[in-house]
Amino acid sequence: MTMSRKLVLLSAVALGGLVALSPGAQARHGHDAPATADTRARDMLSHMSLQDRLSMVFTIDGGGTMGNAPVPPGGLGSAAYLKSPAGLPPLQISDAGLGLRNPSHVRPHGQAVGLPSGLATASTWDPDMARQGGAMIGGEAWRQGFNVLLAGGADLTRDPRGGRNFEYAGEDPLLTGRVVGATIAGIQSQHVISTLKHFAMNDLETSRMTMSADIDNAAMRESDLLGFEIALEVGHPGSVMCSYNRVNDVYACENPYLLTKVLKQDWKYPGFVMSDWGATHSSARAALAGLDQESSGDDADARPYFREILARDVKEGRVPAARVGDMAQRIIRSMYDVGLVDHPPVMQPLDVVTDTLAAQRDEEEGAVLLKNDANLLPLSPTARVAVIGGHADVGVISGGGSSQVDPIGAPAIGVVKGPGKKDWPGDPVYFPSAPYRMMQAEAPGARLTYTSGADIARAAEAARRADVAVVFVTQFSYEGMDTANAMTLDGNQDALVAAVARANPRTVVVMETGNPVMMPWLGNVGAVMEAWYPGSGGGAAIARLLYGKVAPAGHLPMTFPASPAQLAHPDIAGVTATNVFEMQFHTDQELVYDEGSEVGYRWFDRTQAKPLFPFGYGLTYTSFAHEGLRVRHHGNDVIATFTVRNTGTRPGVDVPQVYVRLPGGGGRRLAGWQRVTLAPGESRELSVTLERRVLAHFDEKHDRWSQPAGEYRVWLGSSATDESQQATLHLGSRTMAP
Ligand code: BGC
Repeated sequence: MTMSRKLVLLSAVALGGLVALSPGAQARHGHDAPATADTRARDMLSHMSLQDRLSMVFTIDGGGTMGNAPVPPGGLGSAAYLKSPAGLPPLQISDAGLGLRNPSHVRPHGQAVGLPSGLATASTWDPDMARQGGAMIGGEAWRQGFNVLLAGGADLTRDPRGGRNFEYAGEDPLLTGRVVGATIAGIQSQHVISTLKHFAMNDLETSRMTMSADIDNAAMRESDLLGFEIALEVGHPGSVMCSYNRVNDVYACENPYLLTKVLKQDWKYPGFVMSDWGATHSSARAALAGLDQESSGDDADARPYFREILARDVKEGRVPAARVGDMAQRIIRSMYDVGLVDHPPVMQPLDVVTDTLAAQRDEEEGAVLLKNDANLLPLSPTARVAVIGGHADVGVISGGGSSQVDPIGAPAIGVVKGPGKKDWPGDPVYFPSAPYRMMQAEAPGARLTYTSGADIARAAEAARRADVAVVFVTQFSYEGMDTANAMTLDGNQDALVAAVARANPRTVVVMETGNPVMMPWLGNVGAVMEAWYPGSGGGAAIARLLYGKVAPAGHLPMTFPASPAQLAHPDIAGVTATNVFEMQFHTDQELVYDEGSEVGYRWFDRTQAKPLFPFGYGLTYTSFAHEGLRVRHHGNDVIATFTVRNTGTRPGVDVPQVYVRLPGGGGRRLAGWQRVTLAPGESRELSVTLERRVLAHFDEKHDRWSQPAGEYRVWLGSSATDESQQATLHLGSRTMAP
């Protein structure tokens, strides 16, 4: 660690004790003030030739990512590399949002610590936890020589079968924006640029390279774009990645509405837009629409557009030279702003123990207890437990694709032959934090057995001979492929759970999935915990949750449907393709999102369909009561005040949530929440300031947010369907800039 870096951290610690910094302020702490970054970038630019400026807007394959291209001279082995001109540091660009990736094991010592999936972090409803996780992976990137992390996935869960949902933060724009924004702020606190992605409407993998996501602009502003907007405000990412798909017919990376009108004009974004790998389709069109940098352009795209072709477009007047200056200015500005120039990475070993603990804490807060009849959990430390299935003796499963981290010990350990695909992404990787071993460590006096579950009769027999059975089920999700329309668990897992539950009704199911699944056995088991993809500390976290060393605190960031028929789109056309390449390029060209902004729980509210588990839901080992909801104005703010009481016998975390319905109807919307830890019997009065854009419609005609005058219904509860506390509020009309 350099001395200046040490000082920055020390002053951050000292400050942290005195004042509570907002996430946005934390992001800025230790960075250049915006004016300084702008001025320094402008000054640097004034010394750069057109050739130098052009060289900033085209990165090359960093080795290992696309077709195993060699590592370029100066590169470290990652997604992309840029040899900057004019004495600026090179850009060492690496994936991704759950930790530092080592594509094709290209770096011999490229193993890293992996966070649990983005859905687990979102389930914490805790921006501070997200910020800590971001700081952990940003710090690892910095210590391995990287200064740009392709981390900050904020696409909404429009479909609970999306193959990359596990990388993102669920179906609500406010939750997504706050959680992803905090992750970005954490990453950038380590002087590593973070990349808000994939902008925008890249909500499915099927046909992702070709499809047009069709939706009216107002609905997009109130849903997917609002998530990005809030993440941007909270996290100030140095870069934004435009996505593969088209939006209303126009490719996202040459879409002037998205890149120029919304991002750069309305949101005043000062950073740069980079393309996804293979998402640039033109030179002049893309440059004029707002794309600032072509990624891995030497081999990801059909042609290297932002090299000779762009130079010719400038020479022949199709692209103004000033636009190239703006592109370079934006890139250099982010470099100064995040501290890449003043605090370059210093190669050093990772602090694996500390970082794994950070990942473990995230999972401990993010696992969601869905069912717990007769207080089956927490387990008694003396109970005889039959642990079954899910390779719980090896580790915990992770999601595949560009967010895949090589766990410490890889590639020698961790790969389990399973339902993976030969070419991409390969077999699932299990992080070697084995729940079975960790459970043994938590309950040294108890008799625990492990049975793989391959032989159902044997597993049922083990369950019969034990006091409790804990069955682990896994579902592998990965980039490039959505999960099957029916949403059922793979292989014999449903039959396994059903047989074990028949043998011993004291059955606990631990799910390691990237999405909701159908649970035909739900009525026959005693307890269910959604552990998502649990990350490097996952086994320890699960064991500590099962034995009550920590209490579950997670709340669902997406609705678990009772059947795919309840969804706005019951079938994804083309999802039946068996090959990942076929699926991404499936020729279905249009996906009309006619549900508009009524995504997830908003859709369920509008259709009055009863989900299996609602958005926001999650149990713990104690219980809470909410009382005395009042809603009032305070200046321009609308504030909900209420009391939360721990009515059980254990300490626990509650996440009271405030939902609103606008006058004139529509699905209810999450407008704010609080997260509170209370001792048994303790109560506390809390206030939640409601997000004003959630109280408004986007008025496309007048290009502004418009809060309608009238009666707003307000609910306080522990999920999107909890109606126990209600209030109404009269608001006058109000408009806000877009
Ligand atoms: C993914 C991005 C990733 C990039 C570089 C793309 O296929 O969509 O999320 O950052 O590859 O690996």
